[in-house]
Order: sequence, then structure tokens, then C-alpha cells
Amino acid sequence: MLAGQICDDPLQEMEPEGLEFGVSGELWPYHAKALIVMNKPANHECSQKPKHHPSIYSLLPKPFHNRNMQAVGRLDEDTTGLLLLTDDGALIHRLTSPKHHLPKVYEVTCKHPLDARQITQLLEGVILNDDPAPVRATACEQINEHSLRLTLTEGKYHQVKRMLAAVANRVESIHRSMFGALALPGDLAPGHWRWLPGPQVLYQT
Ligand code: URA
Repeated sequence: MLAGQICDDPLQEMEPEGLEFGVSGELWPYHAKALIVMNKPANHECSQKPKHHPSIYSLLPKPFHNRNMQAVGRLDEDTTGLLLLTDDGALIHRLTSPKHHLPKVYEVTCKHPLDARQITQLLEGVILNDDPAPVRATACEQINEHSLRLTLTEGKYHQVKRMLAAVANRVESIHRSMFGALALPGDLAPGHWRWLPGPQVLYQT
């Protein structure tokens, strides 16, 4: 359906701005660039060629497969929660650049009881094995004996796991609840996704 009319001409020209069309009964509003939020389920890999688990890309409907959708930074296969995907390469570059310092919030559960010294160390900075410069959390709030809420602005490989290991603890689970100003919608079930109106939702306060 194209603007309420059945369209069976694949070559038909159309004005894309504001266009609403349906394919096989499903409504597809026109987006020049796609930006979506997914609630990443556990046991899914953020890779086009997964090794041990299904790919998060297998959770996207077919029209996205032709659009070269890519995750904005990867989450580990056992991490759950807020994952952004887009086909806008410049946006991926912007959002993953260390210069931009967009905060990401992680709800973390740990194997060993947390103590005040560990929280202080995470805030003051810990040394990871690939870089002599300390990395620090911009916020770190203990929620209960085994869980904390950690805010990071970088996105180093396995950063949460390595930071907790650096304070002699061990991560049992990670759930990302925020990316910039965007919180994971409470009604978005694991494995499901939703359109975002644009990158401005990441910056609004
Ligand atoms: N840090 C990690 O260790 N894993 C993630 O998936 C995200 C941040």
C-alpha cells in the first residue's frame, strides 16, 4: 500500500518525505536513515557471523537486512538491555567516538559482596591490562550487597567486566539501562525493537 492505494509497480517513483506505506499488511513509515532501540536478550551475539549463539541481527525483520543495520558498539553475548542499531555510518562514528562522552548506564550484579572501597576505586579509576591510563566510572551507586549501577562514558572491550575484576570482584550479569538521555523503554520486551524519531532522543535532558 502506498498512501492508501495498492501499488504493484516496483519502479513507481514517489516523494519519500512523510510517506507511509505498508508491506504485506505491515505499516512501514519512511525513514531516510534508520535508528532503532532493541532490548537485547541474553545469549545473542552482536555479530553478523555469530560463533556460539544466534545473532541479534536475526531478530530484525527482512527489510532491515538490506539496509546494513549495525549495532552502535557491541554488547557481550550474556549482556542484556539497551542496544542501538542504525544504518547511519556517520552517527555510529559520532556515538562511539571517545570524544563524545555519551554516558551509558549499566546495572551490574557481582559474585562477591561489594564494599565502599571497591565503589571508591571504580570512581577514582582502575588500571586495565591494555592501557596504563586509569579508567573511571562517572557515577557508581551501590544498589544492594551484590549489585551496583555504573555509568561509563567510554566503551572499551569488556569494560565493565574488567573494571570489576580490577577491584577483585567478578561480574555475574550486566544490563544496560540507558544510553545518553535515552532509557530502555519499560514496555519493550527482550528481543523486541522500536523506531526512534532520531538521534536527538539521546541528547534530550
Ligand atoms: N562492559 C562489558 O564488560 N560488557 C558489555 O557487554 C558492556 C560493557
